[in-house]
Amino acid sequence: MQRFRDHRIYTHHEREFDRGREITIDFEGHPLRAFSKEPVAVALYAWGVRVASRSMKFHRPRGLFCLGGRCMSCLARVDGLPSVRTCRVPCRDGMKVRRENAIPQATDDLLHTLDFVFPRTLHYQEMFTRPLALNKLLQKSVRMFSGAGDLPDQPLSAPPLREREVEVLVIGAGPAGISAALGAVEGGAKAVLVDDAPELGGHLVGWPEPLLGAADGPAWIAAQHTRLEQAGVETLLGAECIGRYREGFWALHHEGGLVLVRAKRVVLATGAYDQPPLFANNDLPNLFSARGLMKLTNRWGICPAVACTIIGADDAALSLAERLPEIGVRVLGLVTESTKIDGDPDRAERIQSRGVPIFLGHRVTQAIGDFHLKGLRLEPVGGGEHVDARCDLVAVSAPGAPSWELAAQAGAEVKFVDGQHGFVSQADAVGRTRTGDVFVTGEMLGPCSPARAVSHGWDAGVAAAFDLRANDPRPAARGHTPEP
Ligand code: FES
Repeated sequence: MQRFRDHRIYTHHEREFDRGREITIDFEGHPLRAFSKEPVAVALYAWGVRVASRSMKFHRPRGLFCLGGRCMSCLARVDGLPSVRTCRVPCRDGMKVRRENAIPQATDDLLHTLDFVFPRTLHYQEMFTRPLALNKLLQKSVRMFSGAGDLPDQPLSAPPLREREVEVLVIGAGPAGISAALGAVEGGAKAVLVDDAPELGGHLVGWPEPLLGAADGPAWIAAQHTRLEQAGVETLLGAECIGRYREGFWALHHEGGLVLVRAKRVVLATGAYDQPPLFANNDLPNLFSARGLMKLTNRWGICPAVACTIIGADDAALSLAERLPEIGVRVLGLVTESTKIDGDPDRAERIQSRGVPIFLGHRVTQAIGDFHLKGLRLEPVGGGEHVDARCDLVAVSAPGAPSWELAAQAGAEVKFVDGQHGFVSQADAVGRTRTGDVFVTGEMLGPCSPARAVSHGWDAGVAAAFDLRANDPRPAARGHTPEP
């Protein structure tokens, strides 16, 4: 039985949370108060819904992780449509939301027993391949038990099609993408900026640190809104790029329709995937990526728990360690396998002087808890006595894995680079790939700070625009600096 309690913060000493107007959504038959700008996942979390979905195979409880549309832990049925990423969809009055893939319901899913019966693994492709009758029966049961929701309530009609031509198309409206669109205009082109999120800024919507003269991420984004408007950049939000097709167009899903875009130049700024940590039970609800947790607390004003352990000791981890106590979350400690602090040492010292330990040279071996997160088990990297840190919230700050799929689809060379945490699109200094018409920028080229993403995005945008004007000299690789 789900009990609902509002975890929203309504007064904060330095922040206002713009949630939009008050509305009501229907969550599995319960009317819940929500706000028109809040993503559905956030509205449910605000009311204490910690199990956002069930995993496809073992029906393990899944909670929100990235809040950036990447981890797929927040899939639910929305207004009769299955597998909607609820962290990407704003609430609407009367909206009906239901979790799927569970019997009888996600909170007490009987199919979770599969996880106990097969504690190590379950290869149903290899089980009971003979006799045929048993195999057929097994196939049927597997299809019944696994999956990602039922078909839509109503048959879907073909989406309306629209074609358009664009000079510079920028995909991804985080720091690099925004800057690339502005750079393209500076280079003399008309730019269209698209993102599947309902608002601009990418992970900066929750970034609490100063950035290029702005007080924090939201302040920087607000300034860019004005600049984009003044520069005449067309912005399409809630527009998902499906891919580039052989016929030479980029397909966008936007407002229920399909937009086929022929672009002379494309700048890809689709960022990176927040990575889950590698230890047992790493998928328990209330284990967030650092950026996901920053969005939840700083953008949406939700107090998620009582006590937090932070994995990592880089600047994002230190920032969380300083700011979580401001909303009433106690930070029990930071833990890192590294033997040194990766972030600002003075800040780390300040945090330690407040009694928050930093466990250097320690690794997490497991998350404790069956259904709810109860803590982390830590152990020295070289072996030794373990320590259990009791907490009900974990934030993981680690470099993301660059996104590469659209670049590869468009014909760019993509290579696995261990030090960059995944596959990286190969490009010259301004982000030009071997395709000639596709540029990549920001975290697609490897982990980088927001300021670096802004700077490189600008270069890529200017270079893309200059490419359109055959007789103009191309800009030097680092020849342009964005205004703050
Ligand atoms: S995709 Fe929604 S929380 Fe990660």
